[in-house]
Amino acid sequence: MKMTLSKHLATVLVALALGVILQFGAGGNAVAAEVEFTKEFTENPENLATGKKIWVKQCAKCHGQSAYPGKAPKLKPEKYKIGFVYRRITKGFRGMPSWKKKYNKKKRMSIAAYVKSPGFVQ
Ligand code: HEC
Repeated sequence: MKMTLSKHLATVLVALALGVILQFGAGGNAVAAEVEFTKEFTENPENLATGKKIWVKQCAKCHGQSAYPGKAPKLKPEKYKIGFVYRRITKGFRGMPSWKKKYNKKKRMSIAAYVKSPGFVQ
């Protein structure tokens, strides 16, 4: 009985380790693969309002009009795919920290949706 249990535990641990390797080993693709932006999501007024609120509070300090010059580039949303914006927010990039710990997936998706929306103002 004891034997079977530890064998079972070992199997679970191996499976977990494999999962971790797959998740991180695939790099950026893992992040891209885990999100899907539907029209329902990106056009949902509540999500856009959440994204806007976070943008104004958190992102505008470094990006756009109200940032001091040279702090961070003005964004060019028309040049990005929404998944790219999501990845940058999630993983961070050079001078920008990752926002993964601060905002959950839905919030990060909402920020990306707002940046890509027609109402985006920076
Ligand atoms: C502490 C300042 C700072 C804050 C706050 C910040 N950023 Fe950034 N952001 C940067 C810097 C610096 C870069 C990278 C510049 C470079 O090296 O190209 C960057 C890059 C980006 C890029 C990629 C731009 C590109 O063309 O590659 C996106 C998208 C972005 N930020 C979105 C956001 C969003 C959304 C938020 C709010 C959640 C945010 N940033 C908050 C400093 C900041």
